[in-house]
Amino acid sequence: MKIPMIAPSVLASDFANIQKEVEMLNQSEADWIHVDVMDGRFVPNISFGIPVTEAIRRHAHKPLDVHLMIEEPERYVEDFFEAGAAVITVHYEACRHLHRNIQQIKALDCKAGVALNPHTPVALLEDIIGDLDLVLIMSVNPGFGGQTFIPNTLKKIEQMREIIVDANATALIEVDGGVNLENARDLIEAGADVLVAGSFVFKSENPMETIWSLKSV
Ligand code: DX5
Ligand code: ZN
Repeated sequence: MKIPMIAPSVLASDFANIQKEVEMLNQSEADWIHVDVMDGRFVPNISFGIPVTEAIRRHAHKPLDVHLMIEEPERYVEDFFEAGAAVITVHYEACRHLHRNIQQIKALDCKAGVALNPHTPVALLEDIIGDLDLVLIMSVNPGFGGQTFIPNTLKKIEQMREIIVDANATALIEVDGGVNLENARDLIEAGADVLVAGSFVFKSENPMETIWSLKSV
């Protein structure tokens, strides 16, 4: 089976020991470091912003995968790029001019992704899929770590994979929310390329081993 990329979300890490947590990720088989930015408006929770992203970057040896759960992301895209983002993902539901926002990210020489909430059909990306580096399919409603995986996600991943293949596009499919060892294999079989995992990694006894087990599922 295809080997997935793993992007542990530092949202579930110990913020008081962020350097140690990032160094653990450096040593691990993680491919990316997933950075969840929440503004208390697009989602009902506030996480952290630019200075914390910069602090993570200072210690990280792996690309930062920045997931912006914020309104008007175009106002902050450049700041997050300068703070060290290698991939910036904006929400479909937060962008009035999504294609323009994607162009803005790509003009920075940064990889561009679009995230879809559980209620947003994947077909809405058909016309711009060729311009995307990544599609992030939310498998929980964004805003909090530690929620339960929504099973309908599997169908959405399959549909997204079909759209990508039909368009001869190269976008990666990332899945975010409630990912664990029980659903990882199904997600990969459905067509996911990148698995985000927050609590399953950081609340486990041995996070490095958990990352390895997700990767070798
Ligand atoms: C949810 C975030 C996720 C979250 C995943 O709004 O986008 O990245 O950190 O956490 P778990 O893996 O605990 O569901
Ligand atoms: Zn996320």
